[in-house]
Amino acid sequence: MELPPEPLLFKRLLLTVVLLVSTAAAQLALIPDQLDAEKDSSLTWYIEGAPTGDVTFTWYRGNESLEANKLISYVNSSQSWIPGLGNTGRENVTNKGFLTITKLEFSDSGIYKLVATSPGEHQEAIGQMQVWDRLLKPNITVSNTSVQAYMDEVTFTCHPNNTSEFQIRWIGIYSFQSGQWKLSSDNRTLTGWVSPYDRGPYRCEVSSLVSWESSDSVMLNVYHGPNSISKTSSPTHFGGVVKAELGWKVTLKCSATSVPSCLYRWHLNGTALATTNNILNIESMSWGQVGTYRCIAENPRTQVVLYDIFVLKVSEEFLIREPEYTLYQGSVILLSIGVGLGLLNLIGGLIFCLVSRR
Ligand SMILES: *[C@@H]1O[C@H](CO)[C@@H](O)[C@H](O)[C@H]1NC(C)=O
Ligand SMILES: *[C@@H]1O[C@H](CO)[C@@H](O)[C@H](O)[C@H]1NC(C)=O
Ligand SMILES: *[C@@H]1O[C@H](CO)[C@@H](O)[C@H](O)[C@H]1NC(C)=O
Ligand SMILES: *[C@@H]1O[C@H](CO)[C@@H](O)[C@H](O)[C@H]1NC(C)=O
Ligand SMILES: *[C@@H]1O[C@H](CO)[C@@H](O)[C@H](O)[C@H]1NC(C)=O
Ligand SMILES: *[C@@H]1O[C@H](CO)[C@@H](O)[C@H](O)[C@H]1NC(C)=O
Repeated sequence: MELPPEPLLFKRLLLTVVLLVSTAAAQLALIPDQLDAEKDSSLTWYIEGAPTGDVTFTWYRGNESLEANKLISYVNSSQSWIPGLGNTGRENVTNKGFLTITKLEFSDSGIYKLVATSPGEHQEAIGQMQVWDRLLKPNITVSNTSVQAYMDEVTFTCHPNNTSEFQIRWIGIYSFQSGQWKLSSDNRTLTGWVSPYDRGPYRCEVSSLVSWESSDSVMLNVYHGPNSISKTSSPTHFGGVVKAELGWKVTLKCSATSVPSCLYRWHLNGTALATTNNILNIESMSWGQVGTYRCIAENPRTQVVLYDIFVLKVSEEFLIREPEYTLYQGSVILLSIGVGLGLLNLIGGLIFCLVSRR
């Protein structure tokens, strides 16, 4: 019998038996069978093509008919059972020649041989079986779930709760291509220097030919950055210089990418401001707000600090237009003086008239 190529998902089994090989000299054959058995349950190994009549069935452990390996015989003529030296008290044979094994153990794996004899006939058949543990959920532990990219090494350990044969496989974001991750020879530990891309859930899987189980997932948090800081503003800055007219609204903004998010601070001419986010708003530009604004971004975990600078100035175009305004203001004053003089003339004229009438 060919082994199943992929693990079968018999999750409910505690113990699985596969009869692997069956060879028959003549018609006699052991029936390869796959059994879903609970632990401590029994297995029956069926046969077909057995001689009938006055037949004796004898079962052996191993492929040789040695007295030491004899499990049990059934003699049809006397309807009697004769245990052999290899009998553990769990093996028996039915009157049809079927082998029964109760309270299955892993040590029951191996080769079994049946010899069926009757007057004038002698047949033999050999079969092999494998007993597997039903795999139990493995445990997973991690040296540290919160690590700093390129600085910390992390070790995941899989703790299988089985003793039989199985393989361990890791499921996660890690990449072996980078050469930063290493598996122990038995796959139980996965060790790596983390990069920002290694953040994510990790779990281990145990699998045998007949079952598999997965551990719970553990989340790996990777802290990193910031690597750069970028700035935008309204009005738009040129080389960090922001020009705004008096009374305008001004917005300065810094952005830095990191995990966890950066904390931001602002300084004006070296003096700390109250703003604690990445946007600084000036509702109405005034002379008192010109100066050098420094935006500082800090990752509280990695303690990496970056900063950038805006220089806020009052727009020069605005300053150039100021004399025109003064001129205009001057002409208003001149005009009002003119008006005033006119009025004075008028009043003077009226007084002159009134005086001259008398
Ligand atoms: C019995 O099995 C052993 C080992 O598996 C092997 O070397 C031997 O040839 C086998 N004998 C017979 C009679 O099949
Ligand atoms: C085998 O089974 C038969 C019939 O149930 C019983 O009489 C006999 O004692 C058993 N032998 C052993 C060794 O268990
Ligand atoms: C499995 O995990 C539990 C809970 O986290 C823990 O108490 C136990 O010691 C672990 N067992 C092994 C074998 O690691
Ligand atoms: C291992 O499996 C047994 C049986 O199911 C269970 O009682 C025990 O708690 C498990 N141990 C761990 C460490 O999971
Ligand atoms: C270890 O893992 C690799 C890849 O996941 C797998 O091919 C190999 O069979 C595993 N070995 C063991 C002993 O579990
Ligand atoms: C900041 O410094 C500049 C240049 O020294 C100065 O013109 C400006 O008034 C200062 N601003 C404040 C708010 O102190």
